[in-house]
Amino acid sequence: MDTIKVKDKVFEISITAKEIQLAIMKMALKIDDDLNGKNPLFLIVLNGAFVFAADLLRNMKMDCEVSFVKLSSYVGTQSTNTVRELIGLDKALTGRTVVIVEDIIDTGITMAHTLPKLKDLGAKDVKIATLLFKPDAFKKSFKIDYIGMKIPNDFIVGYGLDYDGFGRNYAEIYKIVE
Ligand code: IMP
Ligand code: MG
Repeated sequence: MDTIKVKDKVFEISITAKEIQLAIMKMALKIDDDLNGKNPLFLIVLNGAFVFAADLLRNMKMDCEVSFVKLSSYVGTQSTNTVRELIGLDKALTGRTVVIVEDIIDTGITMAHTLPKLKDLGAKDVKIATLLFKPDAFKKSFKIDYIGMKIPNDFIVGYGLDYDGFGRNYAEIYKIVE
């Protein structure tokens, strides 16, 4: 399918399933190589990263563990700033090498909130693996260790990413048609 409709918007194909899988295989090789022997804990950030994480982990050969977290968002009463709390963490992070698995880093605000929390919980080393990165939208300065693909600043859906809850189920990535 070259174009899809998700709710009221039309999206066109941007990254094929083949291109996605190739980027993931390369990333998995690199992570395997870098972290072999460190028994890393992969921390999957739900909901968006679930599809990427499944493919990434299936390409990993080393001993590793997997856990899932969610970032709850609520609007503070004093301001319109969204505060994101880490929920669902069921493993001790003390002394561990942690790899955060994200679908996309856009402004970087979400990750900039999350990183210090993981360090506070005692993680020895925190790495970031994101399938997609929008360099033109990025407002922060933290290091992103593993990037699958850099993409332009367009709104996208598919492969776990949603528009208002829909569109996560496609194997390809689609960008919005303005
Ligand atoms: P950030 O805090 O601006 O880096 O945003 C990160 C989160 O925003 C991601 O984990 C996604 O859930 C969401 N997001 C950012 N860009 C897109 C997009 O193009 N499509 C769908 N979700 C997006
Ligand atoms: Mg996300």
